[in-house]
Amino acid sequence: MNIIVTENYDEMSRVAADEIAACVAENPACVLGLATGSTPIGLYECLASDCADGKISFKDVTTFNLDEYVGLDGDHDQSYRYFMNAQLFDHVDIDKERTFVPSGTTDDIDAFCADYEEAIIEAGGIDVQLLGLGHNGHIGFNEPCDVFPRITHKVDLTESTIEANSRLFASKDEVPRQAVTMGVGTIMAARKVVVVASGADKAAIVKRAFFGPVAPEVPASILQFHPNVVVVIDEAAASELD
Ligand code: F6R
Repeated sequence: MNIIVTENYDEMSRVAADEIAACVAENPACVLGLATGSTPIGLYECLASDCADGKISFKDVTTFNLDEYVGLDGDHDQSYRYFMNAQLFDHVDIDKERTFVPSGTTDDIDAFCADYEEAIIEAGGIDVQLLGLGHNGHIGFNEPCDVFPRITHKVDLTESTIEANSRLFASKDEVPRQAVTMGVGTIMAARKVVVVASGADKAAIVKRAFFGPVAPEVPASILQFHPNVVVVIDEAAASELD
């Protein structure tokens, strides 16, 4: 595991964007696994500006997002499809037909999850998976539990995640209680993983996830067993590390 500590959020965004850009430069038809949340916003801005400057092209790139709320369609401004269009896809030369975000509104969620997993395999697997880190150690929406969930599945969100995400909704009651998420196994199958975390409020979980015991109570801890992980964190998020 390679841990890069940056001075601040902007530098974290640039360094992490460079990790993704390097993958696209090496293989213009690569498969990216993408995340939503507040942390990657600066990184997506960097990628959009690289694309505008002609330094990088997403023309042949395929993307799979980690997760989506159950019950929100892509037009809902808190859906992750909406977020991805607004933060990245609308600003780069990507073919939107090749951008996949789990559906939160399909009738048969279990069948959808199996198909999503299959689609990732058919695309050749994920070359680089971008991850944020939840305060409780979740990755995607894989919440602390007794076992590491293997594949894409439907999940009940924990109270702490509902609370954390309520900042983006008009009220806590409007936060969906379930989501579809790639499994921990899906994430671990990516050839490379880039984790971003920023801010003092992430310092405790950064330490637990990457220096504590590997256990499903802290889903991100499994990344200690992945052979190719880059963790990019700012000084505040690194403040509890020795
Ligand atoms: C988002 C996702 C989540 C977030 C995590 C951190 O697709 O899967 O695991 O990465 O909740 O969110 P922020 O970046 O808002 O702190």
